[in-house]
Amino acid sequence: MRITPVLIAHGGAGGRGPAAERPERRRGMLAAVQAGAEILRAGGGAFDAVIAAVRALEDHPLFNAGLGSLLTIEGTVEMDASVMVAVPPPRRAAVAAANPRGAARGARPHAELRAGAVAGITRVRNPILLARAVMEHTPHLLMAGAGAERLARRAGIALCRPEDLVTPRARERWRGAMARRAEAAGSAAGGAPGRFGTVGAVALDARGVLAAATSTGGVSGKLSGRVGDSAIIGAGTFADAPGAAAATGQGEAIIKAALCREAVMALRRGEPRAVAERAIAELAALSGGQAGVILVDRRGRPGYAHNAEVMDLAMFDAAGGFEYRWALPLQSLGRGAPAPRG
Ligand code: GLY
Ligand code: GLY
Repeated sequence: MRITPVLIAHGGAGGRGPAAERPERRRGMLAAVQAGAEILRAGGGAFDAVIAAVRALEDHPLFNAGLGSLLTIEGTVEMDASVMVAVPPPRRAAVAAANPRGAARGARPHAELRAGAVAGITRVRNPILLARAVMEHTPHLLMAGAGAERLARRAGIALCRPEDLVTPRARERWRGAMARRAEAAGSAAGGAPGRFGTVGAVALDARGVLAAATSTGGVSGKLSGRVGDSAIIGAGTFADAPGAAAATGQGEAIIKAALCREAVMALRRGEPRAVAERAIAELAALSGGQAGVILVDRRGRPGYAHNAEVMDLAMFDAAGGFEYRWALPLQSLGRGAPAPRG
């Protein structure tokens, strides 16, 4: 079976944000997908493609990842990121030739899975590169703190000052959120974190390799030290033989639902669009939270769903070219509890 490479990226599910920013968001999303698509078109791998797309979104100041990350309650940047890749098992005929007894017993070969993640990063402009370094250069899966930043130095990943990642836009939003927090003090919503949004990408390459990558500044007004789903394999990011998934939205709800692993495993029985819709509906029923997910299955079929105000996506497939979507939620999913406007 000939596989057509596919790449899907999202720029976060959340509030609509200012209309004036929409054309630039669209350009940023398409440029990110273009960066990944060039790799796939040149015969490169899904893993490199999702990293390239997410890195471009981290470098773009309008998205909540890397430069432009939303700020903690203390006005600082703390970022999470993760990557995962699933290399498909050899075909049954090849397995039987290599291991006739195993084949005779009907042993089912598994995909080879690799992953890396980082949490609470403050001094790396591209946390997605550090998540990759955890995967490629350590025996571990998730790293945080000073040791993670030492790994960045060893892996040749540039460090920066934490304040270099704070944009005027993020600072302005933080001031607004703090003013609203002061106003709401005492009410039930007074301590709730505000805006969210995350960036992510999933891809399938011509060899059938599936990859997912996610990066975020987290939710605005989070406590310092809070870690969200984007650092957690199975929650914010997942890939296995059936497909790859990346999530966005309220991290606490996504972790409880193990959103990305549930969705990828459901691809064994369902097609990506229906699976994405069901996964978000289940998350909303479980926690009342808002989230979005993008999926690609092992045949290259895309799927996505969310129950926030809006989610923006861009897609590339070798057959159909490029497409951008400013996606509204499906009525049938029901809306999660809205995050306070930021
Ligand atoms: N995705 C909406 C935001 O980042 O505010
Ligand atoms: N989904 C991003 C976060 O909750 O940190």
